[in-house]
Amino acid sequence: MGEGNFYITTPIFYVNDSPHIGHAYTTILADVLSRYHRLFGEETHFLTGTDEHGLKVQNAAQKRGVTPQEHCDQFVKRFQELWTRLGISNDDFIRTTEMRHKEVVTKVLQDLKDRDLIYQSEYEGWYCVPCERYFMEKDLVDGCCPDCHRPVQRLVEKNYFFRMSRYQQQLIDYINEHPDFIQPANRRTEILGFLRQPLGDLCISRAKSRLTWGIELPFDHDYVTYVWVDALVNYISAIGYLRDDAEFRKWWPVNYHLIGKDILTTHAVYWTTMLFALGLPQPKSIFAHGWWLIDDSKMSKSVGNVVSPMDMADKYGIDALRYYLMAQMTLGQDANFSELSFCLRFNADLANNLGNLLSRVVTMLHKNCGGRIPAAQPLTADENDLTAACRSAAAEMRAGVLNMQLDRGLASIMAALNAANRYFDTMKPWALAKEGRTQELERVLRNTGEALRLCAELLTPVMPSKMAQLRTLLGASDAPLCLAGTETEWFGLQDGAAVGQIETPLFPRIDLSPELKAQLNQMNQAAKAKK
Ligand code: MSP
Repeated sequence: MGEGNFYITTPIFYVNDSPHIGHAYTTILADVLSRYHRLFGEETHFLTGTDEHGLKVQNAAQKRGVTPQEHCDQFVKRFQELWTRLGISNDDFIRTTEMRHKEVVTKVLQDLKDRDLIYQSEYEGWYCVPCERYFMEKDLVDGCCPDCHRPVQRLVEKNYFFRMSRYQQQLIDYINEHPDFIQPANRRTEILGFLRQPLGDLCISRAKSRLTWGIELPFDHDYVTYVWVDALVNYISAIGYLRDDAEFRKWWPVNYHLIGKDILTTHAVYWTTMLFALGLPQPKSIFAHGWWLIDDSKMSKSVGNVVSPMDMADKYGIDALRYYLMAQMTLGQDANFSELSFCLRFNADLANNLGNLLSRVVTMLHKNCGGRIPAAQPLTADENDLTAACRSAAAEMRAGVLNMQLDRGLASIMAALNAANRYFDTMKPWALAKEGRTQELERVLRNTGEALRLCAELLTPVMPSKMAQLRTLLGASDAPLCLAGTETEWFGLQDGAAVGQIETPLFPRIDLSPELKAQLNQMNQAAKAKK
């Protein structure tokens, strides 16, 4: 991989599903990481897309009286439009029904077949039609599918298999030698545990008698490709594998395959063994995040407890939603999603800590400094805590990005904003104005402005549009974003720059609805009772 290049992927989403917060989370996370890495000066490639083959799409299309391709063409828009709305800066969007993808899947299968890594055999066992998966007797739960709990069919049929078992030891060794390969550490342990059992070969074909909506096997026209094998290849088909070698070498191996923990095995076992078979380097990291829960159960369509990202964004704003999702989840763990916690965090972090301070500074700059940024003055001991908190926020945000601890980085930015509020309240610029101590007043306003600018810079990948507004308000829209090092220059505002007017606050405080107030009371009482 070219040094300084950063390639990141999301899973490709089932085109049939309507996107919910869980899907939006992975994509926003990938977006935020891409934006930080771009600011670090790395050339970045961010890929997302849709998984369009399989029985569910075939059935849904049939029900609607359209062809599967028409169905996909219509439904893919929901994802594409949502990503545009949410400010997602992906460099590419791959659909598995595109020719550029199908060609690569076909070539990969033929290559593996030519090298006897795919063979034909009689399959005898159990098949779950809705999940399109084969199971061994021992995997069934009460005779039903272990995933969807529906009845399975007994099957005896010819199928094609990838010699996955051949790579079991190689995979175990690789995981042991590369501690960052599967992250976080508990997921790595989970996969090593899974690999303690003998690994079987992977059935990669599905009979056309049941499923036609897939990529036909190049060596047997009666079969299509198992949808997971088809889908995983997107990570290399999109960047030019077997099509544009220079492009492919530029990005592969990927820095992060971001996934949810429910699709760890397919990535950490199926995909990695396929890569061994293809003679390709392994991903630098497969990173599994936790789930968004509602009242402690997974947010999912089948449970019927999904929250629509569009609804949240419409109600509270896109940047606020992005911030909440990044700050609320510790990467790798599950997190609870609730409107109440959203509103509380919004009010504390964005409306009070950030927005309110900005309004106070901007108002005073207009009142006392002719709406211009006062000239920079040498720093004094009064600013020690403030500059230290900001310096540490810059260092910790960078570390948070590199170590996948975004919530910690964001917390340190909030700590810096706390320090800025403290500085402002201690220095009492309104009293300095009254007493005519202009030089001190200007110093305080300038330095509080600098802290706001710096925090806005650090927060830009999370809240690109609001932070651009903030920078414009302080006349700093052209200031270069400089996250290249751990030290960020203190004076980034321009002496004499014109300060904008705040028509409406950047983050207007949310008044809790009676329902949310009741929830809050209940929560406070429960907390008191615990004490
Ligand atoms: N199509 C496959 C992925 C193929 S990748 C080669 C798939 N698609 S999916 O649409 O069902 O899920 C996509 C991602 O959304 C997964 O990473 C999954 O973990 C994530 N989420 C779905 N529900 C979720 C939550 N409630 N919380 C967080 N993420 C979850 O699987």
